Amino acid sequence: MTTGPSRVAVVGSGVAGLSAALELARAGNRSNVLLLTRGALGGQSASSLAQGGVAAALDDSDSPDLHAQDTEAAGGGLARGDLIQILTRDGPERVLALIRLGARFDRTPTGELALGLEGAHSRPRILHARGDRTGAEVIRALREAVRSEPLIRIVEQSEALELDIVEGVLRGLVAKDHATHEVRRYSASAVLLATGGPGRAYLRTTAPPGLNGDGIAIAARAGARLADLEFVQFHPTALDVQTDPLPLVTEALRGAGALLVDERGRRVVDPAEGGELASRDRVARALWNHLRKGGLVLLDARTRPGHRIAEEFPGVYALCRRHGIDPRTEPIPVTPAAHYHMGGVDTDGEGRTTVAGLWAVGEVAASGLHGANRLASNSLLEGLVFGPRAARSILRSLPSLPSPISDTRTGDMARSHVAGDEGGELPPETVLRIRTILWEHVGLEREKAGLSGALEELDTMEVELGNRHPDSARNLLLVARLITRAALLREESLGSHYRSDFPLPKEGPPRRSFMELAPRGSGDDGASPVRPARVPG
Ligand code: SIN
Repeated sequence: MTTGPSRVAVVGSGVAGLSAALELARAGNRSNVLLLTRGALGGQSASSLAQGGVAAALDDSDSPDLHAQDTEAAGGGLARGDLIQILTRDGPERVLALIRLGARFDRTPTGELALGLEGAHSRPRILHARGDRTGAEVIRALREAVRSEPLIRIVEQSEALELDIVEGVLRGLVAKDHATHEVRRYSASAVLLATGGPGRAYLRTTAPPGLNGDGIAIAARAGARLADLEFVQFHPTALDVQTDPLPLVTEALRGAGALLVDERGRRVVDPAEGGELASRDRVARALWNHLRKGGLVLLDARTRPGHRIAEEFPGVYALCRRHGIDPRTEPIPVTPAAHYHMGGVDTDGEGRTTVAGLWAVGEVAASGLHGANRLASNSLLEGLVFGPRAARSILRSLPSLPSPISDTRTGDMARSHVAGDEGGELPPETVLRIRTILWEHVGLEREKAGLSGALEELDTMEVELGNRHPDSARNLLLVARLITRAALLREESLGSHYRSDFPLPKEGPPRRSFMELAPRGSGDDGASPVRPARVPG
């Protein structure tokens, strides 16, 4: 049963949340775990959609050091070397542990693990499952293990609203059941946020519905420090169709030789600058510049991988066919789209935030691992390595954290948090406007006038909303303001953050950025002001 002392609440069921929950239940003193997730277990996570795979130095020609060098180079000098060492050193063993758990990765005809190449990787080190269905397979294996673990109580279709902080002490969290709208207080000694990123803040995104940056907003309102919010990664090749989210066309296809060409068949990314496998920000910006002049960008897979696309990339192949494109005989229209947030809740290397009792891991967190730009296929690995690491950190801290009390319904809170009861939800046209503002002014290319205008409009929306209760759409607005403010403050170009008015990096070592919410009414911009944090710890 699951109602003993020392309970830990994990919020989110992507690879980081599932891996952490499993470790919490299995390691050390076999702690009771509450795993809360907004949809079906694992089902609405970005992890489950990941096509390109898990990077790990498993090839004879490879080593953790080479993987570390590539990760560091992608990060624009901002990534934390000590965390990169942990990721690349522990990565291979975590992948092998996942295989022991039942994950089935693709193999060569002789039975070896098949390792592919992706952008900015110097060696073939990307594991895939069923071609381009890697995330789904990783989640399947973890989900089955989690479901079979009696110490984990799973609560599905439940949306975390707030941390429950009583007299300055974290006592658990408050969440709303999607079906009944009932709001419940879940008692826990520690909370681990693994809620994913804020991809839905952008009009064009590969992020599934629900990824509104809830974890960032929840932590910020509880006083947690945030970091590196301006660094948003845009994937160069989403399928250019009228769906939301935009389906991904995996980078592995470029690794297999597909070329990016314009409507006249000319290469869009200069081969002298790395061509199709240059860093993601360069490729995405080259495409963006071509598209905004009214051109088309096409991913031409006809020669390579050619007809093999159907068996080697069954997901992309089926996706194209669903949209009336035969990638064996015609090129695929593509566009950049928001894909991953390097920024988030500031954590140390074990996921600990600046709020006692609160940990964060995966895309919601900003430990500094990815710096200004994430190397492709490092995020599933991050979840596998740092999810359990955060879990062990929590287990070590439990003796000094308060014991949980019992769960309760929260009468007054329940009424005020019910959608629509106090006008908490944002109208769809407001959400669309937020996403359009970010896409146009806080996207692949940014400059002062656009960012200032965007911030002004977003702040006005916030003031107009007044004291309405937070919900996921409201979180989206807060996170949009935070990202915009951070992008305005960084007057240089670095990694994924490109300022056309400051096209070069500043001299000297790059610096991380930190931010926090000022107490309501204390700032210069109306409700819940956003301000740079004082001194990072
Ligand atoms: C891809 O398959 O291109 C995405 C991989 C990633 O974002 O890590």
